[in-house]
Amino acid sequence: MASPLALASWPVLVLSLVMTISATRVEAATAFFVFSDSLVDNGNNNYLATTARADSPPYGIDTPSRRPTGRFSNGKNIPDFISDALCSEPTLPYLSPQLQGNRLLVGANFASAGIGILNDTGIQFINIIRMYQQLQYFQQYQNRLADHVGMDEAQRIVSEALVLITVGGNNFVNNYFLVPFSGRSQQFSLPDYVRNLISEYRKILMRLYELGARKVLVTSTGPMGCVPAELAMRSSNGECAAELQRAAGLIYYIEDSLLRPRTLQWCGIMYGGIKLEEYAFWDAFHPTEKANGIIVDMILNGSPTYITPINLTTLFALDTVIRA
Ligand SMILES: *[C@@H]1O[C@H](CO)[C@@H](O)[C@H](O)[C@H]1NC(C)=O
Ligand SMILES: *[C@@H]1O[C@H](CO)[C@@H](O)[C@H](O)[C@H]1NC(C)=O
Repeated sequence: MASPLALASWPVLVLSLVMTISATRVEAATAFFVFSDSLVDNGNNNYLATTARADSPPYGIDTPSRRPTGRFSNGKNIPDFISDALCSEPTLPYLSPQLQGNRLLVGANFASAGIGILNDTGIQFINIIRMYQQLQYFQQYQNRLADHVGMDEAQRIVSEALVLITVGGNNFVNNYFLVPFSGRSQQFSLPDYVRNLISEYRKILMRLYELGARKVLVTSTGPMGCVPAELAMRSSNGECAAELQRAAGLIYYIEDSLLRPRTLQWCGIMYGGIKLEEYAFWDAFHPTEKANGIIVDMILNGSPTYITPINLTTLFALDTVIRA
């Protein structure tokens, strides 16, 4: 793999649905909830009978234990760096038996490698936690939290929490473009497929809202045509695979227009490029710890080119002002 590699155009949008922050409360750590796929799964799939797993070496080689953790990375993944910024310990996988008692206050990670927006994405991985089930688990989590701290406090924790959702890429690499003449590609043109995905994505976001989420960080699909797996399969000259790049561009474009409704207080999208002096990818699909750190730095401190309408540092600063 040649370096420097351009991990270009990783769009992120912060969708802060509504900010309802109690003005009198003493500052407490922000809980963190994570949804979606292998970019952010931190071990749920280790508890499942699936082939989509990161439980063998050399995954995790750059962690303190040098052992695989279930993360699809040599070390930290995107949620880990966000937890660092929140001064919190990493969230536990929802399926972890250790997620009990006060550890519930940190939040939870519901992500499962292989999933997509549609239920038929990742069927080859058999037993994974599909999006609708991640949302059911979120509800179940809230009942457990309420048993621990009471209903009102549980609702406050969820409404002030940060939520990260990154779903997107698998709908293409593990569905529409998985095999030539896939069922979905026979059924839909690419633009119609993307429109269908976005309309389902919208339902997922509305469901998160119904479940109490109010600060939602949405990352768009990365440069799917440039991941090593697609370069190897679809590119003869080292250029990023055109049809997947087209899909990434379409999903970005339609997300941007559909996720800008008047009812949402803040919404936006980012677009830009990063250059790495080191390897951007750890395996055929997933960023290295180094790249994950750079992505999170853009989420935290980036200009509107990378994240809109505001970056997370600004969002946290606003919270503090509102609470003071
Ligand atoms: C996925 O399956 C669940 C359960 O059968 C269903 O409620 C949901 O609507 C399905 N989602 C999509 C996008 O088809
Ligand atoms: C993003 O965050 C940094 C603080 O790290 C801040 O200085 C900067 O102005 C922010 N950018 C925007 C556009 O809000």
